[in-house]
Amino acid sequence: MSKDSLTIKDNRTGESYELPITHGTIRAMDLRQIKTSEDDFGMMSYDPAYKNTASTTSRITFIDGDKGILRYRGYPIEELAEHATFLEVAYLLLTGELPTTPALDVFEHQITHHTMVHENIREFVDAFRYDAHPMGTLCSTVAALSTFYPDAKDLSNPELRRLQMHRIIAKMPTIAAYAYRHRRGLPYVYPDNDLSYAGNFLNMLFKMMEQTYTPNPIIERALDVLLILHADHEQNCSTSAMRAVGSSHVDPYSALSAACAALYGPLHGGANEAVVRMLTEIGSVAAIPEFVKRAKGGEERLMGFGHRVYKNYDPRAKVIKKLAYEVFEEMGKNPLIDIAVELERIALEDPYFVERKLYPNVDFYSGLIYESMGLPVDLFPVLFAIGRTPGWLAQWEEMLTDPEQKIARPRQVYLGEGERHYIPISER
Ligand code: SDX
Repeated sequence: MSKDSLTIKDNRTGESYELPITHGTIRAMDLRQIKTSEDDFGMMSYDPAYKNTASTTSRITFIDGDKGILRYRGYPIEELAEHATFLEVAYLLLTGELPTTPALDVFEHQITHHTMVHENIREFVDAFRYDAHPMGTLCSTVAALSTFYPDAKDLSNPELRRLQMHRIIAKMPTIAAYAYRHRRGLPYVYPDNDLSYAGNFLNMLFKMMEQTYTPNPIIERALDVLLILHADHEQNCSTSAMRAVGSSHVDPYSALSAACAALYGPLHGGANEAVVRMLTEIGSVAAIPEFVKRAKGGEERLMGFGHRVYKNYDPRAKVIKKLAYEVFEEMGKNPLIDIAVELERIALEDPYFVERKLYPNVDFYSGLIYESMGLPVDLFPVLFAIGRTPGWLAQWEEMLTDPEQKIARPRQVYLGEGERHYIPISER
């Protein structure tokens, strides 16, 4: 009868060890018993970029990269994108269950009534250069929010944790809109509590001199769906940053600013901005083969393609591609879509990409929609951050309440110099 265990024989000593297997994993700490002598520290696993290391258990998001499956708390992303609202999904991620109507009404009221920011934040955003990248403004301003809410340091109080989470989800669009308006030299627009989460964001971005801003319902719904699609994605780089920084028990604003910083990178959430810049640089369908050649030669990276987990088409990219055409119907076709579709076709037939299982990811088409909505390219990662905020917060709280978690502090394999002694500069 097979046993859920791994037997390891250390050929250096001839010793054998039996390690229990749970959920298809062995505990790395069980390796420490493997020693060559009493004063041996014991065996560790070496896993740069944690390619094969589970840092936590989780009940929030499930991904099957080979099958292209993504579920939030068990619900397929396609169903949530089709039927839910972003705040409904945020509630689901935070609590584990879809809300009833009364519960959703209360949650929406809480979020809506935390959308304003302290007036000091206006001055803070005003202090940035006119051409400051909105992600730089967002990362900094979210961190600055921690100075307005000292009660956020009390992580042991679930009510206070929930209050900060509501504040952050509510204020991310406000800060993002302030960053955008500052860039444009436009006056800031205060939140309108009569609008939906996405509608109010559009209001704070685009309202000019009209008394009341009325969002285009097609754009409002498209934006809400995009936020749903970005809401969580298990232990990605920025969520790992949220968990690692949060594990020091810093307040959630400071931890979330670290997550924003991780997302900013072009290999992560910054890819949606990089995709549009790449497509613009390619410039025409005729120029695609040359670009693909350079990508295969390692001179270029096909931004919006490839994924550490998905070795199949990213299910979010499928939904976004369909959504793009709905937005183009309303706003006019984005000319870059023809280049994107042809680039995808060529790449999906090219052995280089096929062998490496490089498919379009969430970032490949999302930027085309944002651009058609009239948003500037450098605001795209900010939209990703707004969507990912409930996921970051749900993962953060799961880490805090997980009895197995402690402050994150990985080990290393030291390959540097052995002990040596100081040499006076005159003798060097
Ligand atoms: C997101 O983790 C998440 O869940 C992230 C995310 C989320 O929701 O949080 O899904 C959001 O970040 C999506 C990914 C957005 N980034 C990009 O689109 C940037 C372009 N993609 C790559 O840089 C890359 O695919 C990564 C970063 C996404 C994944 O990198 P890996 O898993 O470390 O893979 P790798 O870099 O080791 O590449 C494996 C091979 C290499 O070739 P060889 O060295 O084997 O010859 O594939 C090649 C790479 O050169 N390769 C690419 C490529 N991606 C990988 N070659 C050309 N173009 C690409 N896009």
